[in-house]
Amino acid sequence: MRSPLAIALLVCSLPVGAQDLATLSSETRSTVLPVIPKVIATMQEAVSNEGVAGAIPVCKDLAPQLIAKKRAETGWDIRRVSLKTRNAERGTPDAWEAARLADFDRRAAAGEKPETIEASEIVSLNGRPVLRYMKALPVSEVCLGCHGPVDGLDADLRRKLSEHYPDDRATGYAKGQIRGALTVKRPL
Ligand code: HEC
Repeated sequence: MRSPLAIALLVCSLPVGAQDLATLSSETRSTVLPVIPKVIATMQEAVSNEGVAGAIPVCKDLAPQLIAKKRAETGWDIRRVSLKTRNAERGTPDAWEAARLADFDRRAAAGEKPETIEASEIVSLNGRPVLRYMKALPVSEVCLGCHGPVDGLDADLRRKLSEHYPDDRATGYAKGQIRGALTVKRPL
């Protein structure tokens, strides 16, 4: 009889094609997505307690920290990306992500519910199989305070944004548009 270790090794060495993309995507979803409602709830609280300018650290520090924690727990590469970044250093998409984001915009414009838009694919990166997963981050009411049309933004917030983000491109959004995405590279 095979030992459990031998069986585990056998399962691990199955070619990726035999693994189920739907299963891998659903595991990835349930591991990573809980970060999103956490950030949004904290954001709503911070905006109502401290105003938009005071809530900047939620999107600037807390969201990246929660994502960093997930990276440490899983060993997967997890980031936020956007076609119109506020922080280009952290949020610039690669070619695969940029193509998916453009597709997300088309899907949202065609009437697909923005909160359900996602993409996943098994690709080869440096000769190794990787699951790429991306989940759209739609613009909800609370996002508009910092990502809505410039004319409507709080004066104090505008001052802080121009000080910290001189190349800010992340304004002018409307509710229901896609602000960006949470993106995952999971080695298989
Ligand atoms: C209180 C102001 C504020 C609110 C409200 C806010 N954001 Fe942000 N957002 C920022 C700041 C500041 C950054 C830049 C973060 C950094 O330095 O990495 C940012 C960055 C991002 C990024 C990373 C990509 C980029 O542009 O650099 C995404 C995605 C994002 N926000 C989505 C959202 C969504 C979705 C909402 C609503 C649920 C939202 N934000 C609400 C201030 C805000």
